[in-house]
Amino acid sequence: MDHVVRTRNLTKRFGRRTALDGLDLDVPPGEVLGYLGPNGAGKTTTIRLLAGLIRPTAGSAVVFGFDAADQYDALQRRIGYLPGDFVAYPDLTGTQYLDYFAHLYGGVERSRIDLLAKRFDLDLGVRIGTLSRGNRQKVGIVQAFMHDPDLLILDEPTTGLDPLMQREFRELLRETRDAGRTVFLSSHVLSEVDAVADRVAILRAGRLVTVQSVQALRATARRRLDLTFAGAPPVDRMRAVPGVQELSVDGHTAHLVISGSTAGLLRAAAPYEVTNVLSHEADLETVFLDYYNG
Ligand SMILES: Nc1ncnc2c1ncn2[C@@H]1O[C@H](COP(=O)(O)OP(=O)(O)OP(=O)(O)O)[C@@H](O)[C@H]1O
Ligand SMILES: [Mg+2]
Repeated sequence: MDHVVRTRNLTKRFGRRTALDGLDLDVPPGEVLGYLGPNGAGKTTTIRLLAGLIRPTAGSAVVFGFDAADQYDALQRRIGYLPGDFVAYPDLTGTQYLDYFAHLYGGVERSRIDLLAKRFDLDLGVRIGTLSRGNRQKVGIVQAFMHDPDLLILDEPTTGLDPLMQREFRELLRETRDAGRTVFLSSHVLSEVDAVADRVAILRAGRLVTVQSVQALRATARRRLDLTFAGAPPVDRMRAVPGVQELSVDGHTAHLVISGSTAGLLRAAAPYEVTNVLSHEADLETVFLDYYNG
């Protein structure tokens, strides 16, 4: 199978509001796809469609070759789903709740549940209703990962987790990826998926804006450079280079921002004696926000 998830013209309308508009997206096996977009973009709607919880108005979502809406029974065991607003049964303890799902999944090793709980410092003996928001989220994480599913569908999984637990979760994601599982991960912050995602899809107002590898996204990123010359910086020559912006001079040092390749700039500077070059980290967040805002 060359894809785990395949959507074609996947569309969902709520009344007159179009939450998702003609999504065509393929996720190959073993890929971690970051699914990004601002509030109301349609991320949760897409995820609920993939998890078979709602039916499309038009188009289709196919997961492991099965229709997500019509053949969910065939998929349940192979999918781990973490909803964005994780609400569990408040009167059950973590153990009771997870046992119920373990049963639905056709059995899960007790040791795996305990290991996950320990990792996230989660007390499973407590009633879910009395847990803090972050700790409730952890119950959801254990539920999504405990049966070691082939596909994880995660809707803003780190919501409510403290920084230490966010790091633990990223580690779990890396292990999941290294084990060859496929991950569909929604977020509205790029930095959260940057470290684990192979590709990033950006959604805005229900439409797919771009799907790119993280590397490709980086290549179009703007980069801040400081070039120091033995003499006066060749300001006019540098300003003429395509992509150079925000050029300013401070003594022998030129500060500038360049988008895309730096090759042209280095050629323009080469005839002059350059004594120092300082390159700052590519500003991925800026590229991302450009897509966000259109
Ligand atoms: N059950 C529903 N009934 C009516 N409108 C809905 C429903 N679910 C979603 N919508 C609308 O569809 C659009 C997309 O919502 P969705 O929850 O998918 O966005 P999102 O990308 O997950 O946003 P967020 O980042 O805030 O979680 C929104 O305009 C929302 O109001
Ligand atoms: Mg959402």
